[in-house]
Order: sequence, then structure tokens, then C-alpha cells
Amino acid sequence: MNSRPIFTDIHCHIVPGIDDGSANLAESIAMAHVAEADGTKSLIATPHQLGTNCHVTAEAIRQGVTGLQKALNADGISVSVLPGADVRIEPELPKLVKQGKVLTLADRGKHVLLELPHETYFSLAPLLAALARQGLVGILSHPERNRGIIKNPDVMWDVVEAGGLLQITAGSLTGAFGRSPQKIAELCVEERLIHFIASDAHDTKNRPFGMRGAYDTIIEMADEGLANLVCCENPARVFEGKDVKGGLAAKKRSTRRFRQSDNTSRGKSRKDGFGFGWFGQ
Ligand SMILES: [Fe+2]
Repeated sequence: MNSRPIFTDIHCHIVPGIDDGSANLAESIAMAHVAEADGTKSLIATPHQLGTNCHVTAEAIRQGVTGLQKALNADGISVSVLPGADVRIEPELPKLVKQGKVLTLADRGKHVLLELPHETYFSLAPLLAALARQGLVGILSHPERNRGIIKNPDVMWDVVEAGGLLQITAGSLTGAFGRSPQKIAELCVEERLIHFIASDAHDTKNRPFGMRGAYDTIIEMADEGLANLVCCENPARVFEGKDVKGGLAAKKRSTRRFRQSDNTSRGKSRKDGFGFGWFGQ
């Protein structure tokens, strides 16, 4: 077992006073201390954008990260922070990224962290295609905590087949969000239907980092290679603006244990809600 893995966290709410994450600079510094102790050397700060956080601007995030990095350097904390965003899916999302109003991860113009409404799933294929036309790859954040996906985990295969990548929350794997998200997170590890573990940390107490706990759990469930891939290597590639290998680990979907009949929620999810017609050609 690798005793000192070095993590990169692509999803955390550490910018002070900008969203429902860190309330102030002192809390952000405390969070960075916890992250460093957990083994994280690089963070992408991802305040919420769009949805109820449509007032959060790209420039405010960049300025917040610059100020935070200065404070961390002054405090002797060896953690590098780059700007990004946790972006609520909206019809205008691809256009807003193109206009520079919504941030890509690490501000590299490569990956966009996508957040579904928590209570429902709808097909991401049109959005992922629209992003791909702009040279971007969508990363779906915490699918294991989405109620629509919990009801029908099969759709995660659809996301990956449509070119998306999946980010599971560290705490989900260790049970911090309850049994249902944990079961989905475990399914993703078992099926290797996972590209990233990230903390989605909001503070040091209620929503902490927990990368090491997830890393150790993946080793127990699968192997050290997968743990390193999703906790260290793939996240570091996003931090550096490099491609991450997507697609399905198996040549075909070997395990569709959650498949439901054609006229249940999987079929409906392609047609209702925000599906087709949202992301124009
Ligand atoms: Fe988040």
C-alpha cells in the first residue's frame, strides 16, 4: 500500500465568502491545513456558478484564489490552488463558458465540472456534445448523490458513453452521505466507472476533505492502481490541463444490474425535463 499518496482535489469550496463553502479567510486557511495533512498538495477551488449562484463571476473566483494562495504561502502551507467552478447545468452553459463568464477547471479551458439538480437526472448527451464542439470535456460531479441516478444508476454508463467523466465524492465512499450514495459510489468502484475522487469540501467539520479515507477504501475494494488513478493521477492531469482517458473500462457493459424495463425512468429521462433541444447545434 502506498503510505504517502499525493492527492489533487478537483472540487472544493475553499474560496472565502463567495458561496456556501468557506465563510472567511481564517476558515479557508484551516481547510487548507486539513487538506495538506490529508495528503493533498493541489486544489482546484470550485465555487458554485449559475443556478442560485449566477452572481458569482469568473473574475471574483480568480481574485479570491489569488488572495487565498498568497495567504497560504504566508502561512507556510504547501498547497497550490487554481480557480475553477462547480457549474449548475443550464441551457446557456456552453455559451457562457465560451464567453469566459463560467470557469473551466484550473482555468485551463479543458474540463467543465457539471452539477445536475440534486433531485433529478436528465440526459447529458446534448450538453456533452455541445461542450465537445468547443473542445471541452464535461465532468459530472457527485452522480452518487443525485436522486434520479440513485433510482436508476444505469444512466451513469450513458454519461460515460456520451464522452463524460464521473467524479465521486470522497465522503460518499466512506458513508458520510448515507447508505444510498455509498452504494452507488461502491458500484462505481466495482465497475471502474469512475474517473475522479474529489472532496467537495465546504468546511473542516461538516463537509471535510476525506481523500485519504476514500483512497484507502478503494484499495480495500479494488486495488492500489485504481486508487492512484482516480485520487492522484487523473485529478493531477486536470490540474495541468491534460486529457484524461474516458470511456468504459470494460468493452461492453458487463453489469447492468440496475437495468429497468424500457418504459421506466431510464427511458423517460431522455425525453422529459431538460433533455433534447437545450443545447443547440
Ligand atoms: Fe460542490
